[in-house]
Amino acid sequence: MHATWQKYGIILVWMALFMGCSTKPDAQKPDIGDAVEIQLAKGQSESILGFYLGGYVQNGDSLSSVLIQSGANWYLKRPLNPTETPELQALYDAAGADQMLNWEEFEPMVRSAYYTVRNAPRSLDSLRQTYGEWGGPDWFVYETAGQMTAFRRRLSICRADLLRSLEQLTSLKDPIIYEKGAAIFGEHLDAGKVVETTVMIKRSDTYWDYFAYGADGRLVGSIAKREDPLLVPTQCIGCHYGNRAFEPERSFPKDAKPGPTGERAVYVPDAWKNADLAKTLNEHAKRSDHILGLYATLYLSDVLMRSKSAEASDRELNLIAKLVIE
Ligand code: HEC
Repeated sequence: MHATWQKYGIILVWMALFMGCSTKPDAQKPDIGDAVEIQLAKGQSESILGFYLGGYVQNGDSLSSVLIQSGANWYLKRPLNPTETPELQALYDAAGADQMLNWEEFEPMVRSAYYTVRNAPRSLDSLRQTYGEWGGPDWFVYETAGQMTAFRRRLSICRADLLRSLEQLTSLKDPIIYEKGAAIFGEHLDAGKVVETTVMIKRSDTYWDYFAYGADGRLVGSIAKREDPLLVPTQCIGCHYGNRAFEPERSFPKDAKPGPTGERAVYVPDAWKNADLAKTLNEHAKRSDHILGLYATLYLSDVLMRSKSAEASDRELNLIAKLVIE
């Protein structure tokens, strides 16, 4: 009896081998269950998907609770609690019968859900309650005319955030990474009046959020651009996640040529146009944290200048000593 079963067992093993049966899952084929494939074509990458889908999951959940990666392919999982995450369910449903999310299906869904899932501050007043009056003395501020908009922009970053991120560097070659909660404001000026405000706020998952406000201080879905408005956030990502260099940052500290909407310039004192620092940091081209402005370059140039007239703080002096800026 026993021997007979052993014989059957051996025959079954042989059959399994010949017929290609295997209990091991095929390594090429992920167990995606009823997940749908994401095929954005347009610049699909881990950081782009992390930005969009990380935006849906931020209550301590990780990206892998919604996204599966297999080789170069990405899949969106079927939401476990559709009533709790209606926006995620709507995105999943947008894949349709072919179970494939393409850009035309993905873009309107992520855009219309964005401010809700990110719980965007509804007005500049609510941002002021969190950040205080940006542009004031606690902020590092400079103006520029560049390629993001035809308006002149006034950029403000909290000095404490900037200093803290620079204190993490061990050399000027290190990437400059900002902490969670850091905010950078870009106010669009028309004859000195603020007509639009854009802000980037660092999330807990290392990505930044992009928000825009109109002249009345209310949240808006787009900002003005010469031909078509720029849609938040899907058209903000293009430049901020790409590697194209823009003027006047690209030529800084040399002057940039004017563009179709006029002068392109970084309006700062000459002492902040430190060619050595600009070259070593290479801040705009490196854009270590998807940041395109020249905050570290200009701020460190300013600290260096103030250190010579005994106007820099001890922390600032320690910083330039450690980074050997002289
Ligand atoms: C045409 C390319 C381009 C697009 C599109 C774009 N930006 Fe920018 N952005 C820049 C450049 C260049 C800078 C740095 C210089 C400046 O602020 O003008 C910048 C800077 C910023 C800053 C300050 C932080 C930083 O990186 O220096 C914020 C905030 C910002 N952009 C928000 C947005 C938002 C919101 C959108 C979408 C509505 C957007 N951007 C779309 C090019 C772009």
